[in-house]
Amino acid sequence: MDNKTENGFLNEIRDFVTPRLSGKRITHTLSVEKETARLCGIYCPDKEIPLRAAAILHDVTKELGEDEQLKLCIKYGILCAEELKKSPKCFHAKTGEALAREVFGDRIGEEYLSAIGYHTTGRENMTLSEKVLYLADYIEPKRKFRDCVILREHFYGSLEKSPPEDKVKVLDETLLYSFDLTIEDLIREKKIIAPDTFRARNYLCNCVL
Ligand SMILES: [Fe+2]
Ligand SMILES: [Fe+2]
Repeated sequence: MDNKTENGFLNEIRDFVTPRLSGKRITHTLSVEKETARLCGIYCPDKEIPLRAAAILHDVTKELGEDEQLKLCIKYGILCAEELKKSPKCFHAKTGEALAREVFGDRIGEEYLSAIGYHTTGRENMTLSEKVLYLADYIEPKRKFRDCVILREHFYGSLEKSPPEDKVKVLDETLLYSFDLTIEDLIREKKIIAPDTFRARNYLCNCVL
């Protein structure tokens, strides 16, 4: 794709997403796209366009109610609906992935659709694309929650202090930290921890420590 085609493609996706989301969610979405581009510059410049496409789509079904999410699960044959029912915040990642596949699957590869599908929970042995979108969603600069601020400072601070050859280690350590923060919050709030989240955390523990 040349630059003009790439821009046209990303605009088409923005036009698809905009009527489906509130202004506040669009602001977050575009900020995730920007943060994704920044992280791609550090880790995977060759994946920038498809990962930005995935970033624009990552929350496309976020504002649908639980009933509509369930209907989409049935429509797309999403099998883990029972498990997801216990972690309703995770629904939109799976339904968003399925909708993105239906509409843009001929132009966005499985690697990037999967990054949408795991942007909320993570999973064991995540791909680089999954890690980049997961982190971009967490640390995009418009997010002001305590954990987001802590993680953003941790990531960019560590990156600055580390030699370039350690940048993948910094990414993994940051992700491990993010899962710890998320799990601590879920425990404090007496909520279910999605199995993919603790598997993601344990896998990274083995890689990093
Ligand atoms: Fe999300
Ligand atoms: Fe998001």
